[in-house]
Amino acid sequence: MGIEVAVEGLTKTFGRQNIWSDLTLTLPAGEISVMLGPSGTGKTVFLKSLVGLVRPERGRVLVDGVDMVGSRERDVYEARKRFGLMFQDGALFGSMPLFDNIAFPLREHTGRKESEIRRIVLERMEMVGLLGSEGKLPGEISGGMRKRAGLARALVLDPQIILIDEPDSGLDPVRTSYISQLLIDLNAQIDATMLIVTHNLDIAGTVPDNMGMLFRRGLVAFGPREVLLTSDEPVVAQFLSGRRAGPIGMAEEKDQATIDREETQGVVEQTPAGRPVMPQLEPTPGLPRRQAVRRRQERVRAMLHELPPAAQRAVVAGFAPEVSA
Ligand SMILES: Nc1ncnc2c1ncn2[C@@H]1O[C@H](COP(=O)(O)OP(=O)(O)O)[C@@H](O)[C@H]1O
Ligand SMILES: [Mg+2]
Repeated sequence: MGIEVAVEGLTKTFGRQNIWSDLTLTLPAGEISVMLGPSGTGKTVFLKSLVGLVRPERGRVLVDGVDMVGSRERDVYEARKRFGLMFQDGALFGSMPLFDNIAFPLREHTGRKESEIRRIVLERMEMVGLLGSEGKLPGEISGGMRKRAGLARALVLDPQIILIDEPDSGLDPVRTSYISQLLIDLNAQIDATMLIVTHNLDIAGTVPDNMGMLFRRGLVAFGPREVLLTSDEPVVAQFLSGRRAGPIGMAEEKDQATIDREETQGVVEQTPAGRPVMPQLEPTPGLPRRQAVRRRQERVRAMLHELPPAAQRAVVAGFAPEVSA
């Protein structure tokens, strides 16, 4: 089962460029979380910080008692084995058939027999719908298949935490809905804690239990999906509706003068109160239920009174009837 990841006061700077400051959030065990944010806001840097590939200057990332920021390299290396990481481009070896690409972590990090490796690799390839493509080279398959191969490779070491960087980039809308369903199905099958970085509104609206957004070097919010999906915070509302008017500009941020001008010219549309929240996807029939659903319901129920009214209504409307009875 998945384990919790607790992020406390994380701050990262490259040279003189502060990427983000004081990020604090918890990825609940076994739940799916999505991190939104315009390009260049440091989402990939955040994922890398969670696994200790990037070392923030301040803060902690606690994974089963190990701090991925401050611990010795040897301890971070050990703890990293709990994570599966899917990079944006799949990060496959171009000269290696998919089978060997996906088998790579097993051959590198375990002493498993080749027959066992074969069983695991084929099982994971089946999970992501790639069975039959074992012999293909990354250059011979579509972008969507490369992403799924990267996902299969992230799964072979049975990770408790899976980090997925832009599973939709470069995919058409149909392929993207397949990916959304695949992510839900994976969670139902392995109950791992998942964090997905994406710009895609379809994934953001239908996949996660929790959602956060990075903007202007900080975390705008992080919490149950209903909080962001019903939020009237201008940055969040603009992002989730894909509008041009609002604080997010072409080069990540608009200056205050532009925002003021838009406001006086009446360009800023008001967010309709109580934007409808799309239902979350269910696992494909025949698969187990997501164990996270019941845990999340208890967790969110306990915090319900702290949420904004629109979010409260959406949360209650979304409770699974058989669990709330
Ligand atoms: N290793 C690095 N050294 C210096 N700057 C970096 C490094 N990695 C990322 N950055 C900078 O950090 C910022 C955030 O990058 P990134 O996390 O890739 O954004 P996102 O994934 O949200 O698009 C960018 O300005 C990028 O240039
Ligand atoms: Mg990125």
